[in-house]
Amino acid sequence: MTYSVADFDPAIKGALPSDFQWGYATAATQIEGSWDVDGKGVSIWDKFSQEADIRVDDKSTCKDTCRSYDLFKEDVARMKAYGVTGYRFSFSWTRIIPLGGKDDPINEAGIEFYNKLIDELLANGITPFGTIFHWDTPQTLEDRYGGFLNKEQMVPDFLRYARVCFERFGDRIKNWITVNEPGVFSLAGYAGGAHAPCRSSINEKCKEGDTSREPWLVGHTLLVAHGYACDLYKREFQPTQKGSIMITLSGNWSEPWDAADPKDIEAAERSNQFEIAWFADPLYGKNPEVDYPACMREQLGDRLPHFTEEEKKLIRGSSEYYGMNSYTSFYKRHRDTPAPPEDLKGNVDILDNNKQGQSRGPETDTVWLRSTPWGWGKLLRWIWKRYEMPIYITENGTTAKGEHGWKPQSADDVLEDPFRVEFYKGYLTEVATASQEGVIIKSFFAWSFMDNWEWSNGFTNRFGVTWVDFASAEKKRYAKRSAYFMKDFFNHMIRK
Ligand code: NOJ
Repeated sequence: MTYSVADFDPAIKGALPSDFQWGYATAATQIEGSWDVDGKGVSIWDKFSQEADIRVDDKSTCKDTCRSYDLFKEDVARMKAYGVTGYRFSFSWTRIIPLGGKDDPINEAGIEFYNKLIDELLANGITPFGTIFHWDTPQTLEDRYGGFLNKEQMVPDFLRYARVCFERFGDRIKNWITVNEPGVFSLAGYAGGAHAPCRSSINEKCKEGDTSREPWLVGHTLLVAHGYACDLYKREFQPTQKGSIMITLSGNWSEPWDAADPKDIEAAERSNQFEIAWFADPLYGKNPEVDYPACMREQLGDRLPHFTEEEKKLIRGSSEYYGMNSYTSFYKRHRDTPAPPEDLKGNVDILDNNKQGQSRGPETDTVWLRSTPWGWGKLLRWIWKRYEMPIYITENGTTAKGEHGWKPQSADDVLEDPFRVEFYKGYLTEVATASQEGVIIKSFFAWSFMDNWEWSNGFTNRFGVTWVDFASAEKKRYAKRSAYFMKDFFNHMIRK
């Protein structure tokens, strides 16, 4: 037996408020498939994955993924059976506006798909959380003017896309997320180069790019686009639609390698600022002067953009909640050498997260998926203390190596995944205890509802509580034990 309800910790029974939202998160590119069906336009990820087979680990594309475009009703029924209260999904920009721009036509077939999905969720008592931008920039905008590198042209195009979403779906979507993980989009797409649009001066697979500048420019454009979208929503839609709007930030916890060395303590804190406060300080900071963290300004100088007076006003206070995505923790050690211009992390050495066996692993596919509930608990408290914002946990999860070779024996076979069950038990216990201490936490969306297309890792990482048979034409789904665990554990923790 993987777990037993009788063994759940009585100290956290009823620890979460009765209106706590829990469920799963997904993104259009990763689950929908039907990449060119019913008028959908090409996104940078369609192009990236189809163009050169060196880029995605298993040479797969996002053409089909989980086929959720066809199978969404089945998925919603499964989510209902899993007991969720909410579902976080993303809108595909190029399904809604195939060419992406402010003067380009709307694709009514795309609107219809999301209308059906939202209606299906509501009919099943599941609250939809809609992400407007989850990394799928229209390729046309990339070709026209360089996409997010071009703030002047991108912001109006983004704003028109956001407007269409509010106008068409805002009568039923009451929880908006403007942008998913601006940090990862900027760093992986414009520095590491492992993500679309594959611009980097330090990754030889990328043809163009300037890693010393571009990630900071793109991050800035995303923040400004988010600010304008919130402003639009609050002025024109919120008074009648009565929803809320926020951004989702990524961030793994940084811990000093040597807890007795002040330089390591400083290095870890600097790292948290580069990774998290980069966006969170301008959005939620208490310093009346809206800017990026001082340590970033000091290291990056004018390569880090400056906010105009209008941008400062738009961005501070724009996001009504703190949307938090986090997966693991790393140890950081200081460096005595100066930071090179391409440094992205605050001039620190990043060390394995399994120092003295403090993480559970290495059963995961990568080090950044190892289980470190201790760091997650510290992160929740760090965010709460620094920003005093109610937190929506919008993503958290892991992969477990053993799942790749699993072969279901019958149609209703269940994959026993003790690693994921333990992972969530550890992380959720931290959520419950932080909540009992007074940290306001309003949701937990696990990544993910089902195994899906993990960007440049293709199908090599399985994050779901549902196992997907990608080799089958119908992308058959099978429950994992964690799906039942989540239902039981939330039932234990949420006050009746
Ligand atoms: C971050 C992203 O938002 C999501 O798209 C991704 O698949 C998961 N975390 C796991 O890497």
